Amino acid sequence: MRLAVNIDHIATIREARQAREPDPGAAAILAELAGAEGITVHLRGDRRHIKERDLELLRQVVATKLNIEMAATDEMVEIAARIGADQVTLVPERPHELTTEGGLDVRSQAATVERAVRRLREAGIRASIFIDSELDQIRAAAAVGTDAVEINTGPYASAAPRDRDRSLGRIKDAALEGVRLRLEVLGGHGLTYVNVRPVVAIREIVELNIGHSIVSRAALVGLDRAVREMVALLL
Ligand code: PXP
Repeated sequence: MRLAVNIDHIATIREARQAREPDPGAAAILAELAGAEGITVHLRGDRRHIKERDLELLRQVVATKLNIEMAATDEMVEIAARIGADQVTLVPERPHELTTEGGLDVRSQAATVERAVRRLREAGIRASIFIDSELDQIRAAAAVGTDAVEINTGPYASAAPRDRDRSLGRIKDAALEGVRLRLEVLGGHGLTYVNVRPVVAIREIVELNIGHSIVSRAALVGLDRAVREMVALLL
């Protein structure tokens, strides 16, 4: 199972002070050195964390796979083509949401999504679509010509314990259907050090996108060293 690390939160910390650090480019290099096989960022319409300048820098430093999450608009697709992303993941986007709230409804927006997928593939960019674990959505995604789907693991991650197995079963069924339709099947959202293992056991899923939990842990496991280094400067 490949790990792609979502580093949006690094930019969120930077923007909390509108400062120069921490830089997503530095985070991407460290994540790759630690074994990440992909770097993911979400370019939001409001540019609240990742900005186009970050994409330009990331394009220069990411040696694995640069995956940009974005809305399926002409403006966004043109940016991805100009930057030369390796992969774009089309996601639904609502202006004031805290994070992506669910999968893209490919069935009801097939023409828009198909246009974005076609334009991405013409630009040599792999297309992925973030979708809920519903067979109809997987089939709709395959029909618009995408290379991959990322199955939304959020409902599994937030399910009550008694509903977890059912949620996991839906992810497994969706993944099987994706493989049957010759799609590459990825997964992500809400995965943590505690809940990731059952998803890893789904062999049809070949890559997971994980952000919040990794950056949260980095803040805590890194705090000891950071404080010690400052204490040493204050001696
Ligand atoms: N996949 C998609 C499409 C997302 O929008 C996000 C959050 O940015 C993730 C995966 C990663 O989710 P998390 O930060 O909860 O690990």
